[in-house]
Amino acid sequence: MRVAAAVFDLYGTLLAIDSMSAHVARANVADADAFVRDWRRKQLEYAFLSSLANAYRDFDELTALALEQTCAARGVSLATAVQAALVDAWRTMPAYDDVAPALGALAARGVPLAVLTNGTPASAQAALASAGVRGLLTAVLSVESVRAYKPDPRVYALATARFNCAPREIVFVSSNPWDAWGAARFGFRVAWCNRARGVAETLLPAPETTISGLEELGAFVGAAETGDAQPTSYGPAGGTTDAVE
Ligand code: LAC
Repeated sequence: MRVAAAVFDLYGTLLAIDSMSAHVARANVADADAFVRDWRRKQLEYAFLSSLANAYRDFDELTALALEQTCAARGVSLATAVQAALVDAWRTMPAYDDVAPALGALAARGVPLAVLTNGTPASAQAALASAGVRGLLTAVLSVESVRAYKPDPRVYALATARFNCAPREIVFVSSNPWDAWGAARFGFRVAWCNRARGVAETLLPAPETTISGLEELGAFVGAAETGDAQPTSYGPAGGTTDAVE
């Protein structure tokens, strides 16, 4: 089967959210890793709530509001300017080490590459440029045009519209298990990149494959192209949830 494009989630899949811990620690916040995990969880919760309530606010705003809530919940006091700098740091997040080689290899094979993100177009473009991988991508698709967040099917439909293809012609890669579920439900061929060594969602459909890093992606795309990709696993039975997705 033709693979019209390989489409990637951004934060936590291509870009290393864990890198925020260093910024948080520099702001003298104790237990920076746990702080970042709480911040990320609240950011996603606000995205889900905004979608459910049909009360869209963009991801930069939700990131700032989630930071404010996380500070309050953890009894952390940060000056407004420090909070703003922490939100801005999402635009300079580095890519994981496996990103440039994996995307470069796919691009060299002629597979169009794209990002599909909850992030704003401006922040996503800035972060990808800063991480040095923007040039490998054909398209950067943001939820902003539908004013709803993943896993709303209208978001995944941005990819099929952009590449003028059926859902089964898209290979979708996300480290977020809930995003992998939403994408599989939409009909994409999904690789869950289980960077966090987390537990698979029990919601079905399961991703078609589970990989531990993007260096495993080439084989999945190759199998999808030749039509013999098969569901492989539901991920590990257990695991830590320490890493930030
Ligand atoms: C994104 C978030 C969900 O990039 O990771 O869409």
